[in-house]
Amino acid sequence: MIIVLDGPAGTGKSTVSREIASRLGLSFLDTGAMYRAMTYWLLQNGVDVNDPDAVALASSKPVILSGTDAGGPTITVDGVDVSGPIRGTEVTGAVSAVSAVPEVRTRLVELQRGSAEAAPRGIVAEGRDMGTVVFPAADLKVFLTASASIRAVRRAAQLGVTDPAGTAAILADIERRDAFDSGRATSPLAKAEDAVEVDTSTMTPDEVIAHILGLVRERARA
Ligand code: DC
Repeated sequence: MIIVLDGPAGTGKSTVSREIASRLGLSFLDTGAMYRAMTYWLLQNGVDVNDPDAVALASSKPVILSGTDAGGPTITVDGVDVSGPIRGTEVTGAVSAVSAVPEVRTRLVELQRGSAEAAPRGIVAEGRDMGTVVFPAADLKVFLTASASIRAVRRAAQLGVTDPAGTAAILADIERRDAFDSGRATSPLAKAEDAVEVDTSTMTPDEVIAHILGLVRERARA
């Protein structure tokens, strides 16, 4: 079974996907973490992330391994656990440019499909192009949305940011990334035609999880 969740940052995709995988006994794949790990490696190795040719050339070098245990997903680059550093501001600021490079996407999509093939019972995969490009035949496709301002408030809470200026900066970054991720030529963030859209603006994570588990049950009965 393959379940995919796509949508912009701050819609609760990771929390929700992980919990669904856990409850259904499936593997879990955070594909954003893979783009972040690639970006981290490029930055560490002095590659200019704003030079698509340099990024394309270097993108075959890092060995990225994404653990798929929903209980505690890990991600390593060249054998080093980078789960912490990939969430830093430097990587967050550079990852959109890196993920727009077609060679990066080709390489990571191959790894993503490999993870799904290796998953014993199936997988819950989350990202931006899971339903449109990576797993077009997924059993269930969900597209999560929420207003940009609500996503900024959620992200600020996660980071412990309480001042309005800090929240405004987070909102600006979210809007910048949304525009970049939706506007890029290769595999833009988009809802698959057959995806179910869920607006999480006024829903708690538990409500979103219950709703999606309901969709899974519906599909299983059909
Ligand atoms: O979900 P996230 O914020 O960790 O994703 C980091 C970046 O990676 C985001 O700016 C878009 C990109 N990404 C992508 O292009 N395709 C995916 N399948 C997942 C993430």
